[in-house]
Amino acid sequence: MYEFDRLLERKGTDSAKWDAMQQNYGDSGLTPLWVADTDFPVLPELERALSERAVNATFGYTFAGEGYYKSLIDWNARRSGLRVAKEEVLDVPGVVCGISFVLAALTKPGGKVLICPPVYPPFFAVPKALNRELVFSPLRRGEAGRHEVDFGGFEAKLKEGVKAFILCSPHNPVGRVWEKSELEKLAELCARYGTLVISDEIHSDLIFPGRKHVPFLNASPKAEEISVTAMAPSKTFNVAGLKASYLIVRNPELRKKIREELERFHVGVNLFGYKAAEVVYRDGERWLEELLVYLEDNARFVLSFVESHLPRVGAYMPESTYLMWLDFSAYGLEQEVLMKKFAGEAKVALNSGTAFGEEGKGHVRLNIGTTRALIREGLEKIAAAFGA
Ligand SMILES: Cc1ncc(COP(=O)(O)O)c(C=O)c1O
Repeated sequence: MYEFDRLLERKGTDSAKWDAMQQNYGDSGLTPLWVADTDFPVLPELERALSERAVNATFGYTFAGEGYYKSLIDWNARRSGLRVAKEEVLDVPGVVCGISFVLAALTKPGGKVLICPPVYPPFFAVPKALNRELVFSPLRRGEAGRHEVDFGGFEAKLKEGVKAFILCSPHNPVGRVWEKSELEKLAELCARYGTLVISDEIHSDLIFPGRKHVPFLNASPKAEEISVTAMAPSKTFNVAGLKASYLIVRNPELRKKIREELERFHVGVNLFGYKAAEVVYRDGERWLEELLVYLEDNARFVLSFVESHLPRVGAYMPESTYLMWLDFSAYGLEQEVLMKKFAGEAKVALNSGTAFGEEGKGHVRLNIGTTRALIREGLEKIAAAFGA
């Protein structure tokens, strides 16, 4: 049994989540339930492997070794049935960095980039920074409140000439795991209108029981032609600080252009990042299974707490990830006032819903990738500030 219920001391480790609250909220003493990483002790094999590598003390230029590729290929095949060939893999330090290079290589300034808000903030920031034009097809709430793509609106946008669509699969912040039929439809539409699909699958290992992640590449033969997948072990195994991510590009023409762009800027992965990916993908499966049980119980805990102490808050069980999307709109507060109440009165650091697009008004994102005790602490402080 791995120990997920023990809080690691992260203060003073230059942790963005624990040490950057002063910078972001003007108060270092908040309960940190914001930045999307986790507070759990890492896979013991990882700690051992990195310590051993550090003692060896040669830190010269590096490249991806056979062990790295074998782990990555086996992991993807085992976990989601995704067949990956070594030559399809392009290493990048981060997923956001990878998406930036894909857009730079395969689209032009002024080209339209489509996203489905509410969605991860860099999906707005990256196209803007590259002078691409952002267009939106907001998710809508379907049956039983489940978020879904508004296919009519989505196609209407594609008709306007969209060069690239950034898919979040599973979707941060709403936690949707897309069904194969939905992905097939997205692939079919994007292929019809000549739109590149960038499928960000960084959360795809974190799937709760009853759901299955379908890699976009497995959605249909068309999907393989028109897409680039971005992946990493960083969310799953909490190794984001080691900067090891990768793109999977099946279409050789797209791959060639992206590779050239990466080479042009000498983009590479850190030696410890390669080692970390190799070890967690090789040895981390049981750890992940146990983590998912702990996270699912955390989500249930939040739901039952909200039901009994914060009945005006809208909450639902996420299908994936350690992020929950909470609806505080019943309080009728402007977003700024709402966020001030969390930071100033409740003393809890959360992500503002509007960082994910205007659809996030009245919402906050809660990170449950931590101990139940810390979540309870945060929720009790929120309940005291907001009342029933
Ligand atoms: C959908 C999504 N993509 C990418 C990232 C970050 O990736 P990276 O740190 O590798 O750039 C996150 C982190 O929260 C995310 O939620």
